Amino acid sequence: MNTAIQGVIFDLDGVIVSTDNCHYLAWKRMADEEGIPFDRTINERLRGVSRMESLSIILEKAAREYSEEEKQAMAARKNGYYVELIGSLTPDDMLPGALDTLELLKANGVKIAIGSSSRNTPIILRQLRLENAFHAVADGNAITRSKPDPEVFLLAAKLLGLAPENCLVVEDADAGVEAALAGGMRVLGVGGAARNPKATFAAESLAAVDIRTIIQ
Ligand code: BG6
Ligand code: MG
Repeated sequence: MNTAIQGVIFDLDGVIVSTDNCHYLAWKRMADEEGIPFDRTINERLRGVSRMESLSIILEKAAREYSEEEKQAMAARKNGYYVELIGSLTPDDMLPGALDTLELLKANGVKIAIGSSSRNTPIILRQLRLENAFHAVADGNAITRSKPDPEVFLLAAKLLGLAPENCLVVEDADAGVEAALAGGMRVLGVGGAARNPKATFAAESLAAVDIRTIIQ
């Protein structure tokens, strides 16, 4: 079996750009308005998880039950706050090492893709002027099961025309590490996921690793 890495699939939030803080601020605003306790520790559990699943985690601390209709309205309100915040993102907000890594991979003939749970992926890529940078984009708009299910990464690999064993995933979330492994891919854990013992490779950030040493 040929196991050379021919494609790299990047998570977006927390890997290419630090939108994770925007997610936190938007959920915090919504939770404060509702009087629901929410802090950065709970926020860690929302990494890589879909919008509605994130809301379910936040509502674990709520004093009352919310109807389905109320939940949809709360998620929409949070998304409005979030979209407002990401509206001021610029290419300068890319995380250290991200752009260099993308360029290095392309220069070495390696295909690159996005594999993100976020339904706001197109907006974020546009803000970063990366809308044409990837060979494939798989995001929350195209999947039904969010990480740790491998669906988004399997879709990205398929769009790249590659087998999972020829793909490397870059992730900052434990749910994403699980998803990559469940999809039969190797995974480079960065940020919080650098401390996940299941990650195949680990680095503090994309600036702290020469991706060529992993893909060779
Ligand atoms: C992921 C984030 O990328 O996208 C999660 O890590 C977020 O925190 C998820 O909940 C869904 O994002 P969105 O933009 O569809 O609400
Ligand atoms: Mg992430």
